Amino acid sequence: MYDMKIVINGRRRLSGTVKISGAKNAALPELAAAILSSDEFEFCGVPEVEDIKVMFEALKNIGAKGEFINNKIKIRIPSLKSGLVPKDIIETSRASILILGPLIARNGYAKVSLPGGCPIGDRKIDFHLEGLKRMGAKINIEDGYIIAKSDKLCGIEYTFPNKSVTGTENLLMAATLAEGETFLGNCALEPEISDLIKLLSSMGADIKQGENNSLIIKGKTTLKGSIHKVIPDRIEMGTYIIAGCLLDNEIIVENAIPEYIKSLLNVLENMGVKIVIEKNRIKVNPTDNIFPIDVGTKPYPGFPTDLQAQLTTLLTQANGISRIKENIFNRRFRHVYELNKLGANIEVKGNTAIIKGKTELRGGVIKSTDLRASAALLLGGLIADGETVVGNSYQLFRGYENMPEKLSQLGADIKLIKR
Ligand code: EPZ
Repeated sequence: MYDMKIVINGRRRLSGTVKISGAKNAALPELAAAILSSDEFEFCGVPEVEDIKVMFEALKNIGAKGEFINNKIKIRIPSLKSGLVPKDIIETSRASILILGPLIARNGYAKVSLPGGCPIGDRKIDFHLEGLKRMGAKINIEDGYIIAKSDKLCGIEYTFPNKSVTGTENLLMAATLAEGETFLGNCALEPEISDLIKLLSSMGADIKQGENNSLIIKGKTTLKGSIHKVIPDRIEMGTYIIAGCLLDNEIIVENAIPEYIKSLLNVLENMGVKIVIEKNRIKVNPTDNIFPIDVGTKPYPGFPTDLQAQLTTLLTQANGISRIKENIFNRRFRHVYELNKLGANIEVKGNTAIIKGKTELRGGVIKSTDLRASAALLLGGLIADGETVVGNSYQLFRGYENMPEKLSQLGADIKLIKR
């Protein structure tokens, strides 16, 4: 799996329609939420990507029964055969931390591997652990595992020091089975979290949204199963919209929810890109002159850190100097050095990338460093003259469903080489 290469012959014009898959970052916590009930769940629109397969395996390891076929997951955890989520199953993803909250809530015991995931910064988990400890869990970290025990979780008042996506999801899920009321302040409220709230509510959880990004949860003794459709992936949406802005491409993105991606659409509008927005479709028309911009990443509804790398590639084609400030993660610029190997002129100063455009990119041999960086490098290959080989492409398949096939259908000359 790890020795995968994607080979692109660049400068082909892309046109046509691409359909967006379900959101990986919604499906991950939603699958973990299945731990909260012994009933059956049916999820549709689940992207067939590696991080989801890893989550599914980890759930099977603790006693889940089910199947994952044609973007549908049927799953039931009638009883927990173990509280163990071992390293070898889960080390490449963040799934283990999402399992921790629901598992301790239902089982009173969890031994989960410390989370992996993209090497994009420190990725601390102190808010998760602090919240669970306040709920009554005893937590130790030993030999790369988080070991949590609790007779019963109790409702708490906890305000996150900073917004955390999986931190909010974890404490929210744990609180649905805790005794009494939980108040969570300064929550992240990404669309994926709203979708998780929709699922949990359909399971019988009592969750209300309060002022200033707070959530108030009244704990229940049991929750029931559900049938749930995962929302479309806004980061995949954004990635194909950015692909549509390259060369004189003309792409229609289908199964899109424009509302989720307003911050990107605003940025692109300021860059002079011509975009037509319909109800579930976004059309990107060819643009002759792309203007440079200054933008900073922020929690939703701000500009997403998960599109920073892809926008960087586009800005190599803007006429002038752009700056992107990365405010969420402290090491999320590794794609820059790879893009520079293709002829980009990007300098990183502190947490800002300064992109001098427009540069003609030429093919080369580069390496994926993380999931979104992989997508950014593919976009680089699409505009580079000649052949680009992107190594370590396993990263891409952690979060993008069939990306080489989707690009190929739009007209790209792209192939995947597995060894
Ligand atoms: C989620 O990661 C996403 N992953 C990431 O997507 C995304 O980049 C990130 O949110 C930000 O939007 C999933 O949803 C599975 P955070 P998460 O906790 O939850 C600090 C992708 O490409 N922090 O919101 O791990 C942390 O260090 C991935 O699909 C603490 O200090 O991110 C970071 O600076 C990559 N203590 C900031 O908060 C904590 O306990 C935001 O992190 C938790 C977080």
